[in-house]
Amino acid sequence: MHVLVTGATGYVGSAVVRELIGAGHTVTGLCRSEEKAAGLKAAGAEALYGTLDDLDTLRSGAAAADGVIHLAFTNDFSDFEGALALDLRAVEVMGAALEGSGKPFITTAHANGHAVDHAVLATAERGVRASIVSLAPSVHGEGDRGFVPMMINIARAKGFAAYIGEGTNRWPAVHRLDAAVLYRLALESAPAGSRLLGAGDEGIPLREIASVIGRQLNVPAVSITSEEAADHFGFLGPIAAFDITSLYNTAQASRATRELLGWEPKQPGLIADLEEGHYFA
Ligand SMILES: NC(=O)c1ccc[n+]([C@@H]2O[C@H](COP(=O)([O-])OP(=O)(O)OC[C@H]3O[C@@H](n4cnc5c(N)ncnc54)[C@H](OP(=O)(O)O)[C@@H]3O)[C@@H](O)[C@H]2O)c1
Repeated sequence: MHVLVTGATGYVGSAVVRELIGAGHTVTGLCRSEEKAAGLKAAGAEALYGTLDDLDTLRSGAAAADGVIHLAFTNDFSDFEGALALDLRAVEVMGAALEGSGKPFITTAHANGHAVDHAVLATAERGVRASIVSLAPSVHGEGDRGFVPMMINIARAKGFAAYIGEGTNRWPAVHRLDAAVLYRLALESAPAGSRLLGAGDEGIPLREIASVIGRQLNVPAVSITSEEAADHFGFLGPIAAFDITSLYNTAQASRATRELLGWEPKQPGLIADLEEGHYFA
């Protein structure tokens, strides 16, 4: 298939591009700089200049492809509503370009992105093989800039690795390369209207994550109270306190995704990945 990938130059998207090309697909990656275009070309993809605001580019890029994987997101936590509004417009335009074609359209779920998900699923009613991937909140591996490196930086700065209370609240996690395989499999075979969960680890207690961070940094892992969490973790406090598995019904959703697509995560889990040391180099 010839696939349009938005977010092709990002942490997850660049792995998806490699995975698609490795499996014999061809890729056009949306990108917004010469430097990023050069990276795409080096990976064997074509570059399509444009941003999520360039609706004509998204429309023609989607129409010209055999399928679309949508991973671009501004990740602007200071204007998350704005990021979701941009995402909604982009999804509506690309979805409309695919209407009646039966082509696959794989999008990425976001917290509070119900309107976007609704728009995606609506295209499944209009002849698009649309499906939504929810990624575990930690997509880990080389180059991770997400929650886990933030926790490591906080532990380094404060001299201890914290968890809240008993630390039994759990985070799902998925290796970046396993996530890339999931997007490819969804492109190739997910039925219209599928909701998929990318979780290699279905739920790791925060105490275990803090313990391995403590071991690697040679600092203690320490329980703190929920009152202390805001000061310790900053904006990460509520996330560090939360049992994220409750959001997705992780075990069931993960099993359903694996069975539907034959997806089998093969990469190291988060704890093993942290033990490898590259997060602490
Ligand atoms: N990484 C995680 O741990 C994680 C966990 C859960 C969900 N997710 C979701 O997975 C998706 C990909 O995440 P990621 O970690 O790969 O993010 P990332 O590394 O920040 O990449 C974001 C991608 O989107 C592109 N982009 C951003 N704003 C754009 C705009 N206005 N117009 C066009 N392109 C734009 C970026 O282009 P440039 O390269 O030019 O900046 C980049 O290709 C996101 O939807 C994210 O919310 C990620």
